[in-house]
Amino acid sequence: MPSVTWRSQLARGAFGAVGGQPFFTASGQGCRLEDVDGSQYIDYVLSWGPLILGHSHKEVTAAVDRALNKGTHFGTPTPAEVELAEKVCALVPSIEMVRFVNSGTEAMMSAVRLARAVTGRDLILKFEGCYHGHGDGFLVKAGSGFATLGLPSSPGVPRAISELTLTVAFNDRDAVAEALARHAERLAAVIVEPVVGNAGLIPPEPGFLEFLREGTTRVGALLIFDEVMTGFRVALAEIMARVAPEGDVYQAGTLSGNPVAMAAGLAQLRVLEREKPFALLEGRASLLVEGICKAARDHGIAASGAAVGSMWGVYFCEGPVRSFQDASCVDRGLFSAYHRECLAGGVFFAPSPFEAGFISTAHGDVEVGDTLDVVDRALAKVGGGR
Ligand SMILES: Cc1ncc(COP(=O)(O)O)c(C=O)c1O
Repeated sequence: MPSVTWRSQLARGAFGAVGGQPFFTASGQGCRLEDVDGSQYIDYVLSWGPLILGHSHKEVTAAVDRALNKGTHFGTPTPAEVELAEKVCALVPSIEMVRFVNSGTEAMMSAVRLARAVTGRDLILKFEGCYHGHGDGFLVKAGSGFATLGLPSSPGVPRAISELTLTVAFNDRDAVAEALARHAERLAAVIVEPVVGNAGLIPPEPGFLEFLREGTTRVGALLIFDEVMTGFRVALAEIMARVAPEGDVYQAGTLSGNPVAMAAGLAQLRVLEREKPFALLEGRASLLVEGICKAARDHGIAASGAAVGSMWGVYFCEGPVRSFQDASCVDRGLFSAYHRECLAGGVFFAPSPFEAGFISTAHGDVEVGDTLDVVDRALAKVGGGR
């Protein structure tokens, strides 16, 4: 069992923003986590997004077992890489070429290097509250843990690097147009989470992504969709062909494309392709958002929220939340108290108002109903007297 020291280290980590008693997970099954003390939680963090089928899905686990029994990684290509790449291209026809990496950070760092090589330009434009991993150039007005901790920048990132990153507010067309006009000759790429999931959940306003597409094309910059959270990244093949060894832009990773990860990815995509659960997931996520907002208002707390596919988010403030600046108005004290009450009631939400929630195919109507009961009790307690 983890010692008190370990627990207090953890309390200063992900749980630092909300206080309360952080837990160590012993196992996950379906939509539930069990901690080392035997308490169970309905999990809406889902490893920060990727577990669309929930924990320990039997087909994914069986595929990983089969791969493990044949050896874990070899440093040579395996058929599983080709199979997964073909599946990704089949599911998203605009994807013509694929490179596997081990993490979102690697993917984004490599995409920006490629954009700089292809355009011969240095600047990138990102949006306030978007998180693209912990690469030096991304830690400028970043979302996720960076926003939760309220960090303006990170020591260790040279100013010469952060000065190459411009930021504007999400959904702000005027600010984008001005930045594009001012830096047209020097801008390598605009990088964006198509649906912001690292500042709570902020959907793009209608036409905003098309506006980015049109504006970047006009100034000869690339548009990078960071779909680490939302799904798949889109890229053109003549650009991807510049990646080494086919091209001259260096990118590599010893464990990239390892057969265990490939087996897990392929198994998950096969289930999603067969079951097509997205309408169901969005329906349940919407129920959750509507239920939480209603409970909040019933207890005198302002709330607004949205669901996009299996991602969802609620802010305890009057909406609409269109940008990170809007999101920053949330009452953090209230959120922390709410989070602690929900956790005590057996519901695990992300320990920050600046993280999206997720839902999996393992979350049924019963679990969503149970969650809303816990939420209602939590909000009654923390909103009392408003
Ligand atoms: C949109 C987005 N991009 C990049 C990353 C970085 O991914 P990783 O933590 O795998 O490096 C994250 C992680 O949360 C993310 O949400």
